[in-house]
Amino acid sequence: MTQVTCDIGISLDGVSAGVNQSREQPFGDGVGDGELLHAWMFEHAESHRAEIDTITAAGAFVMGRHMFTPGRGEWDLGWRGWWGEDPPYHAPVFVLTHHEREPLEMEGGTTFHFVTGGPQEALERAREAAGDRDVSVAGGATTVNQLLALDLIDELRLHVAPVVLDVAGVRLFDGVGQHRLRPAGGRITPEVAHLTYRR
Ligand SMILES: NC(=O)c1ccc[n+]([C@@H]2O[C@H](COP(=O)([O-])OP(=O)(O)OC[C@H]3O[C@@H](n4cnc5c(N)ncnc54)[C@H](OP(=O)(O)O)[C@@H]3O)[C@@H](O)[C@H]2O)c1
Repeated sequence: MTQVTCDIGISLDGVSAGVNQSREQPFGDGVGDGELLHAWMFEHAESHRAEIDTITAAGAFVMGRHMFTPGRGEWDLGWRGWWGEDPPYHAPVFVLTHHEREPLEMEGGTTFHFVTGGPQEALERAREAAGDRDVSVAGGATTVNQLLALDLIDELRLHVAPVVLDVAGVRLFDGVGQHRLRPAGGRITPEVAHLTYRR
């Protein structure tokens, strides 16, 4: 049966991205090139192969527009995502946005669909597209927090980097209300603590 999973990287103080995202600083101010949060994934991929493979195994993805682009307002139609012509998703990706855009078909099976009807519609379309496979919520925290508030995430996989950032930014769990989660697994490594919770 399809499950809704979510993988998100945070600092010990809950930051998932800094402010002022730009093409030069995809993760915003105060988080370096993302290496402070994602060194495990970018610089130590082989030590974390199982966790990385689990993320990309989903049959469809949901993400917020800032995960797809540093752009704001009307679309720059020349922007085709951060990942080049063959993004790592290899599946339909439903991008939440207030600005309509035609679907964008990439190489390798990834098609970006732009959804203006809110997180429930995005999730519903992703479920249909995924068939029996899981739907993965890929971030950022603004999108994840909306789905947590709606209690629509079955399995939350936190990747907690051993850093305190103390910067202005987007924090996981802001405004989601009170939730009791069930610990369902974990692995502590020098680069990151992988912690899995179920609702
Ligand atoms: N730490 C991690 O694991 C991780 C993962 C993913 C991303 N990131 C980083 O996090 C940052 C992006 O995260 P974020 O939290 O700022 O933003 P986000 O969730 O990626 O995107 C937010 C945008 O999505 C659209 N959106 C969200 N909810 C919507 C709704 N209900 N209806 C319609 N549109 C909606 C809006 O775009 P418009 O109004 O502009 O259309 C909104 O401004 C980036 O710096 C990215 O690199 C980090």
